[in-house]
Amino acid sequence: MTKKVIIANWKMNPQSLTEAKKIVTAITTKVSHFKKVSVIIAPPVIYLESLAKLQNTTLAGQNLFWEESGAYTGEHSGTMLAKSGATYVIVGHSERRAMGETNEMVNKKVKAALKAGLKPILCIGESVRDEKGDYHTFIKEQIMQSLAGLKKVNLKNVIIAYEPVWAIGKNAKREATPAESLEMSIFIKKVLSDMFGAVATKTVALIYGGSVNTKNAEAFLSDGGVDGVLVGRESLTPLKFIQIVYSAEHLS
Ligand code: PGA
Repeated sequence: MTKKVIIANWKMNPQSLTEAKKIVTAITTKVSHFKKVSVIIAPPVIYLESLAKLQNTTLAGQNLFWEESGAYTGEHSGTMLAKSGATYVIVGHSERRAMGETNEMVNKKVKAALKAGLKPILCIGESVRDEKGDYHTFIKEQIMQSLAGLKKVNLKNVIIAYEPVWAIGKNAKREATPAESLEMSIFIKKVLSDMFGAVATKTVALIYGGSVNTKNAEAFLSDGGVDGVLVGRESLTPLKFIQIVYSAEHLS
């Protein structure tokens, strides 16, 4: 049985370390004994080292730079993240792509993460869904360019988060449906299979993200063709996030 993966992407929240510790503790106290779920929390990088000292906490960075060291003001390397207690790192989130991150940069970051011993959580997703279905080509290119040059053995350490940009955040156009998630999950696996073969493709965890909440999480987990969900807004409210994790633990 593979565990469901539930990722909390805190983005640039909360506003203090004290608050961050409170949220983590509230969550881990309730879910750390769960058997069927892995919970990963991606806090702002500045809180990582302190949160890593709390028990039963698996952490992710929200970004990394591809160089190891040098004159790159404001950046941090994968090794720095790993040393600060991160096991995973989100790469290519749409909010970073909106600031200019290209597939080529994302590819360098994925490789740098793996080299540093981190597991990349690669985010992909189209901004618009056109009726002709051009978003399939867009997603295919994102996957092919972001994972270019990876070896088959790397795939077991990669999580792919399908996050349609139109369904993310408080300005989302609408929520995606589990059926749309399922359709994209099949499509993404086909692209991966063409690149890396069917056997390696089975080792990749595929998750859904974008307006996941206490009401729709269970449906994405049971009918969305995914191994987990990535939660933004609702991951900052422990009661709501715990409820989402609970629904993953108790899926029938
Ligand atoms: P949201 O964010 O759950 O607030 O839509 C998800 C994400 O951006 O990863």
